[in-house]
Amino acid sequence: MTTLSLSDQAIAILRGNDRGGYTVPTEGLYPYQWNWDSAFAAYGFAEFDLPRAWQEIETLFSGQWQNGMVPHILFHQKDDGYFPGPDVWGTDKCSGNAVSSSGISQPPVAATFTRALFEKDIAFGKEKLEALFDKFVAWHGWFMRHRGESGAICVTHPWESGRDNAADWDAAMANVDASNVGDYTRRDTSHVNPEMRPTKRDYDVYLSILYFARDNGWDEQRILDDGLFRVADPTLTFTLLRANRDLKWMGEQLGRDVSEIDGWIVALEEGVKSLWNEDIGCYDAKDLRTGLFAGNVTSAAFLCWYAGIDDKRMLPHLERFLIASPHAVASLDPTSPHYNPKRYWRGPVWVIVNTLIGIGLEDAGYRSEAERIRSDCARLIEGGGFAEYFDPEDGTPAGGGVFTWTAASWLAWVSKDPKEA
Ligand code: DGY
Repeated sequence: MTTLSLSDQAIAILRGNDRGGYTVPTEGLYPYQWNWDSAFAAYGFAEFDLPRAWQEIETLFSGQWQNGMVPHILFHQKDDGYFPGPDVWGTDKCSGNAVSSSGISQPPVAATFTRALFEKDIAFGKEKLEALFDKFVAWHGWFMRHRGESGAICVTHPWESGRDNAADWDAAMANVDASNVGDYTRRDTSHVNPEMRPTKRDYDVYLSILYFARDNGWDEQRILDDGLFRVADPTLTFTLLRANRDLKWMGEQLGRDVSEIDGWIVALEEGVKSLWNEDIGCYDAKDLRTGLFAGNVTSAAFLCWYAGIDDKRMLPHLERFLIASPHAVASLDPTSPHYNPKRYWRGPVWVIVNTLIGIGLEDAGYRSEAERIRSDCARLIEGGGFAEYFDPEDGTPAGGGVFTWTAASWLAWVSKDPKEA
């Protein structure tokens, strides 16, 4: 019997989760195309099949709305194993697009990974990028217009952050009246241990926020004025800032006018400052409805380096997280009363977030910190496979198994010789 290497296993996962032009995050739990999952998938595919990597990004943009938004889920083919599906989102009449989708977006890491694709083969990349560049500009412009009123970028739904049940949203979610949400059947808890997933109250709130937007025709102005949830988010802000820098660079390679993107970069560099919570000495989420910070140190704050902001004030927090967990980086401060090492975004380590943090640390020259994170990821995958996330204390795999983005991160960053990175 031959044993497949981890890289061969990772390639097999990407191929196995390929549904023809797009990749599902994992069979069963997530049966559609997710936005930032797909961007990671492209980053992984680029290690062994560059045309397929570009196709993943092209398929993602096939769901772009007329207003520029690129949705967080594209429902290419109906699957009853997931809730809430296309009928619940009810976006078909307002997207201006034939592909059914959700009505919110997700962290914009796609431009950054598209740059990685582009740099692998510039001539091929230029050909591909010519058709995609304006679409990226439209998407990033949508964030700046519809999520950027505080200077930082906000989320209108916890799912838009990609960090669904992070403690960052607790106070804002506590203010949502979810009493009219009615009966529904969750499907996620039939695929995964419920203790590793958001709670029933979390889901009631997720649906209430969704229903408000749907019942108002996904009208961004209505959502801005009266929506139930609006929280400025370090993930969105840092990933968009980085994405704008990479989009600008790609625009220059194509000979495009990048002055508008330049303006967005300057605005976000300024806007990031509004996320600094002096009380905890850290970047933090801020509820735009109440003006209050969430008061948590999360792994999202360590994306400052990924965004090109070398903020030395963040180094002691990082050192603290690296010491606190045998398997870093916990998604929530292990000393927080809300910390839970098994429950999704309230403590577990995510290889994909570690990859983004690691890329940023390497760019900023913090080699030994990046190395620690890379080797923790490698140990987690060697011990527990390509799981969705892991317990930072004992390294046990959690959530969904055979995950596309964990496999992709292995191929494109974790398994790389740091000298090449
Ligand atoms: C889910 O269904 O858990 C997703 O994270 C929503 O995007």
